[in-house]
Amino acid sequence: MVKICCIGAGYVGGPTMAMIALKCPDIQVVVVDISKPRIAAWNSDELPIYEPGLDEVVKACRDKNLFFSTEVEKHVAEADIVFVSVNTPTKTRGLGAGKAADLTYWESAARMIADVSKSDKIVVEKSTVPVKTAEAIEKILTHNNNGIHFQILSNPEFLAEGTAIEDLAKPDRVLIGGRETPEGQKAVAALKAVYAHWVPEDRILTTNLWSAELSKLAANAFLAQRISSINAMSALCESTGANVSEVAYAIGKDSRIGPKFLNASVGFGGSCFQKDILNLVYICECNGLPDVAHYWKQVVQINDYQKTRFVKRVVSSMFNTVSGKKIAILGFAFKKDTGDTRETPAIDVCHGLLGDKALLSIYDPQVTEDQIKRDLAMNKFDWDHPQHLQPQSPTAFKQVSVVWDAYEATKDAHGICIITEWEEFKKLDYQRIYDNMQKPAFIFDGRNVLNVEALRKIGFIVYSIGKPLDPWVKDLQVSI
Ligand code: UDX
Ligand code: UDX
Repeated sequence: MVKICCIGAGYVGGPTMAMIALKCPDIQVVVVDISKPRIAAWNSDELPIYEPGLDEVVKACRDKNLFFSTEVEKHVAEADIVFVSVNTPTKTRGLGAGKAADLTYWESAARMIADVSKSDKIVVEKSTVPVKTAEAIEKILTHNNNGIHFQILSNPEFLAEGTAIEDLAKPDRVLIGGRETPEGQKAVAALKAVYAHWVPEDRILTTNLWSAELSKLAANAFLAQRISSINAMSALCESTGANVSEVAYAIGKDSRIGPKFLNASVGFGGSCFQKDILNLVYICECNGLPDVAHYWKQVVQINDYQKTRFVKRVVSSMFNTVSGKKIAILGFAFKKDTGDTRETPAIDVCHGLLGDKALLSIYDPQVTEDQIKRDLAMNKFDWDHPQHLQPQSPTAFKQVSVVWDAYEATKDAHGICIITEWEEFKKLDYQRIYDNMQKPAFIFDGRNVLNVEALRKIGFIVYSIGKPLDPWVKDLQVSI
């Protein structure tokens, strides 16, 4: 029986391994992690991450051919294929600070694999890593090898949160990069055979190592670039009276452009986009390509601009001050159908409003109070470390309360900001909400999910990203 071990039981490692176990009953899959609480949660009824359909998949195979364990070394030693899916945070100090990936966790995983291995192994990069990481990992493995052979493969993950199970069950493509030697190609074939259990052959692409590594960064950069492009248009729409949804629809009808990923928003978040682009920027700089680096950096800069622009709209609309005013923040996750808050635009929006002394009442259907407070207290880039290495006992902001109901959050509020596009926000009783708010009552829709006309009829002053401006907002002179 082929044995697979995955180091890192996170958003990537957990669901991916669960799907392999489900589709390959002849393979034993063990997911290991240094975090005891995380492994305990994977072994309980309350999984550590919220992902539609994940519970069913885990329950179908757990303790049959899918195991979660903290005995990292034991399971790595026994495995034929070792996936590595540990954190790759952005460096906060030293060379490349603010851009380059910190490979500390990866390097220690590689050293441990080399130390405990007693048989040949295929080591698979599952974390997004800078191009040429495989080369460094190869050196670590072969310099400590005790006569054991390692083959490194790059097998980047393209799943999106909220649709992870669907993405894993029916991937657009699986990408496997390996060395172009006979041994490398043998390793590629072995991993291909795992995916071939359920993925049609023409969807399993094989490339060299560097192409696979770069393709992951490039895919995320292209996706993020689309969002920054439509968000840049949203600012122009507001200035000209065009409607960004109509523009997106019109351009999306061109089959060369396509309709997906054209929703204007308060900004993109998530653990990958910003980090991967910064990584790409750093790689370009290191390879003497400052103009290419500058080009991609703009994607992140427009994203920051969009978040700042949103805060400016809120403050300027409310008579240029939100000091002491209650503002309801509806949604904190970086997108709907996930409890994940990594790099969520909500953090920057909340910081912006708190900077203007607002009182925030935050509600998200999937994010806990503890998580929200931790996020608001954390330094930029600190989120991408194993949880026990993140700052503990955060100083709770006095101006922030976290509630478990949208009606509670909006009661007596002056304004509402929609930050995540949760379905339930579309179905709220806005008349009831309006009746319980201070007047004038404002709504700032950062996701374009609400019916602007219906809200205006109720009496709200409405701002919706990239939509024709409310006369109230239009009359304000703001530099954005
Ligand atoms: C992770 C990385 O964050 C991302 O940079 C990379 O591209 C893919 O892998 P994700 O699964 O979303 O993505 O991260 P996370 O949920 O934080 O999971 C990483 C896990 O690795 C954590 O559970 C952490 O405890 C574990 N880990 C980290 C180890 O088991 N050993 C280590 O040395 C470091
Ligand atoms: C992304 C990639 O889609 C996935 O392929 C990769 O493996 C990891 O990074 P994820 O971060 O889970 O996945 O979410 P995604 O659905 O791509 O959304 C990222 C951010 O962009 C979210 O904040 C989302 O709200 C925002 N977004 C997305 C928009 O603002 N507008 C859009 O049209 C689409």
